[in-house]
Amino acid sequence: MKFLRRTFAGLLLAAAALVGVVYSGLYDVAADRPDSGLLRWFLHTVMERSVEVRAADVTVPADLEDPVRVDTGAEHYAEMCAGCHLAPGVSASELREGLNPEPPELARVAGSADPRELFWIIKHGIRMTGMPAWGRSHSDEKIWDLVAFVRRLPAMTPARYQELTARPPQPPGHGHDDTPDHGHGRIP
Ligand code: HEC
Repeated sequence: MKFLRRTFAGLLLAAAALVGVVYSGLYDVAADRPDSGLLRWFLHTVMERSVEVRAADVTVPADLEDPVRVDTGAEHYAEMCAGCHLAPGVSASELREGLNPEPPELARVAGSADPRELFWIIKHGIRMTGMPAWGRSHSDEKIWDLVAFVRRLPAMTPARYQELTARPPQPPGHGHDDTPDHGHGRIP
């Protein structure tokens, strides 16, 4: 009984201390303050395991390798992703510099990635990192187009990237689910 009472008092004290820290404003939320290695490991491992577990149920479409998907995905990638994740021939962006965690260069990491995990991350985003949930504005088909393109990134030359992404303006509504075309800014 005594033991239980002590444990309970201990827990109460810890909870009070935590609330105290929260309200004191002691914790520095600045994005330009480097995170400790332990915090980085913790957040990254939580993210990886969370995605692995949830992506296991995703079914990969049989036509993922279709060049039309890669082509459509390229256009979306240049508009929506290159500003954070760079691209062949695009080696810096002002937006990326200020983000914490820093968005990975997909051309370096995406080649070996499981397509189901790429799909899940692009659709649902990653909380508290700046990685948006594109499923709010894009159909699953459009997200698979992005997956198809992202998987090709590591082997892509800057010239091929240019070729895939520099094209005449599309008629209104083409490519996006949300007509009319609202003109994403091209980066850079
Ligand atoms: C505003 C910046 C931003 C934009 C725009 C953005 N992302 Fe991200 N993305 C991030 C950040 C930050 C992470 C890293 C999250 C982490 O480490 O937990 C990330 C992570 C990812 C990952 C996981 C990479 C890995 O293996 O660790 C993929 C895949 C990805 N993004 C794809 C995309 C695609 C495709 C688009 C465009 C449709 C996109 N992102 C647009 C910020 C962005």
